[in-house]
Amino acid sequence: MYKLIVRRFLFLFPPEFAHNFSFTFLKILFSIPLVKLLFRKTYLVDNKKLHKNIFGLEFKNPVGLAAGFDKDAKLFHHCDAFGFSFVEIGTVTPKPQIGNPKPRLFRLKKDSALINRMGFNNEGVEKICLRLRKKKSSVIIGGNIGKNKATPFNKSIDDYKASFNHLFDYVDYFVLNISSPNTPKLRELQGKKELEKLIISVQEINLSKEKQKPILIKISPDLNNFQLDDVINLVEKYNISGIVATNSTNSRNSLREKNQRINKIGNGGLTGKPINTLSTNVISYIHKKSGGKIPIIAVGGIMSAEDALEKIKAGASLIQLYTGFIYEGPILVKNINKAILKTL
Ligand SMILES: Cc1cc2nc3c(=O)[nH]c(=O)nc-3n(C[C@H](O)[C@H](O)[C@H](O)COP(=O)(O)O)c2cc1C
Repeated sequence: MYKLIVRRFLFLFPPEFAHNFSFTFLKILFSIPLVKLLFRKTYLVDNKKLHKNIFGLEFKNPVGLAAGFDKDAKLFHHCDAFGFSFVEIGTVTPKPQIGNPKPRLFRLKKDSALINRMGFNNEGVEKICLRLRKKKSSVIIGGNIGKNKATPFNKSIDDYKASFNHLFDYVDYFVLNISSPNTPKLRELQGKKELEKLIISVQEINLSKEKQKPILIKISPDLNNFQLDDVINLVEKYNISGIVATNSTNSRNSLREKNQRINKIGNGGLTGKPINTLSTNVISYIHKKSGGKIPIIAVGGIMSAEDALEKIKAGASLIQLYTGFIYEGPILVKNINKAILKTL
């Protein structure tokens, strides 16, 4: 039904328009009595065997919606209707920003992929907190935070600290996003020295609170093993709760789409099927190197239940979807949970 009707219709429109249209449509749809219940009945796999306690949080199933989908926390309380147990809102920055000029999101249908250079368009932490305050559902919320484009690089940490403080009472866990390719120099925060400073600053605030929140780090699939070793060492040294692996890639290797179109699209992060193996390799490496001690949220190219099982086999504790959800719809969430159940 999704692929046959909904996707066909949505794919008639430019991707960002289709995304915003879906949000408005779903808000109206879910305001109709019983509709959400019907969706939950259709897509939510409700089974105690799927429950997982990871970094102190009780997840009702291991499948979540990845960052960037609900950037402004507009739809988070409806995400359980699609079968997700958790949603990562953001990336949130301290000040609102409009992001890069449009068009900035592109479909590569032949590759089951997307390229985006959104540039952290979001309404800013204060407005987003006002929305989160009204949380009604039991969905677990991750707060993915980053820096404003206008903030000088040497002041980046201040942005993370500001959003961390604002969001603290409204999210269940935090993700320090240091891996989006669309904010100039952001990925340099993955370097050992910069990352250590960032972790220390944010953990200092966390430790000053009565009850700490799990903090995770989201990394790029383009890091080499030496860079991954640095991240792993810092995660272990400063008791970081886990790693989200991975964000989008800058690479354009082995795409089916014509070079001419890829070149015309230009800069941006590639996501979906083509990044699956790249992301899985990162997960395997972290899992092996840390002796399985670091919880990993796997994200990147999960387009089927088999892909999800592969990520779990590689060492993931939880998984997240973005591009797969666009191409396959909510049935993918259900199929993944059913497939995981079969393995238990
Ligand atoms: C349009 C779009 C916007 C995104 N925005 C963010 C973001 O703001 N912050 C972030 O950490 N990741 C963002 N991502 C990356 C996703 O969270 C995810 O890491 C990536 O898409 C790989 O997963 P996938 O192959 O399932 O899409 C975005 C991805 C897309 C496609």
